Amino acid sequence: MELGSADSLRAGRRRRVLITGAGGQLGHALAQVFSTDEVVALARADWDVTQPPPSELRESELDLVLHTAAWTDVDGAEADPQSAAAVNVAGTANAASLKAPLVTYSTDYVFDGRKRSPYVESDGPNPASAYGRTKLHGEATAGQRAWVVRTSWLFGATGHNFLRTMLRLGEGREEVAVVDDQRGCPTYVGHLAQATRELVDGELPRGLWHLAADGDCTWADFAEAIFDESGLETRVRRITTADLERPAPRPAYSVLRSERAGAPALPHWREGLRACLAEMAR
Ligand SMILES: NC(=O)c1ccc[n+]([C@@H]2O[C@H](COP(=O)([O-])OP(=O)(O)OC[C@H]3O[C@@H](n4cnc5c(N)ncnc54)[C@H](OP(=O)(O)O)[C@@H]3O)[C@@H](O)[C@H]2O)c1
Repeated sequence: MELGSADSLRAGRRRRVLITGAGGQLGHALAQVFSTDEVVALARADWDVTQPPPSELRESELDLVLHTAAWTDVDGAEADPQSAAAVNVAGTANAASLKAPLVTYSTDYVFDGRKRSPYVESDGPNPASAYGRTKLHGEATAGQRAWVVRTSWLFGATGHNFLRTMLRLGEGREEVAVVDDQRGCPTYVGHLAQATRELVDGELPRGLWHLAADGDCTWADFAEAIFDESGLETRVRRITTADLERPAPRPAYSVLRSERAGAPALPHWREGLRACLAEMAR
């Protein structure tokens, strides 16, 4: 039986699911995947999560909270870690204060990237960036009753992401310079949303879960696949992280895998890329 459905049935209503950060790319995908439920999708203008939940939210009977609202500007967090923490730590505490079952999202950037085999849930975190530190504190703030989903390199048909940036650059340039010394798992938000549903509906135990696309690649590999799959002739010039001189350090290796029994399996990142391009073409 689906989580919350017993209560919902007793109350004669569908499961009521709150999505925070609903204007973001994962928020969009979750709203689609949970569309058979009664979805309350709140963007930043509806609820700034650095503030306590509005009273009508506290009084409403929520069966599930999918907390995607986050400060995701990795370089910006380096310059203003307090503001990043207000969203990623205090905001998560505010979502947890609703007392409904909670799914919160975290990142591969909690790891320092020194490993050369996939990071599993029992690996010790050691974030190198302010963003990674705020997300790690956010994980702790979510509490024991939450599913804490670590994921990586998200892309979708909406919002700001690497895929959309490459498509924009690729339209107008013969060559694009892309980092080739960071390796991770580009994850399609549609696949992550589906995996989230499996986690919740399958009543898998709460706690830490690594959910990222199968396979791994560098950003340069991903860019080449994007141009290839979308029929663009743009060339990729492979550069190093040092060449870019970005303010925040990024892990050189942050492939995520789950060691937990029954973990939802996501499709390969290339399948995610194709699914996303198909969604964009609709
Ligand atoms: N993107 C990635 O590559 C990646 C990788 C690993 C983990 N994650 C995690 O996955 C989750 C979803 O990320 P995403 O890619 O969907 O991010 P996103 O597209 O940037 O969406 C985040 C949303 O949160 C909203 N937001 C920011 N501050 C807020 C506040 N104070 N109150 C309410 N809403 C606020 C943003 O609104 P505005 O647009 O108005 O700022 C945005 O709509 C986050 O927890 C993120 O840390 C992301």
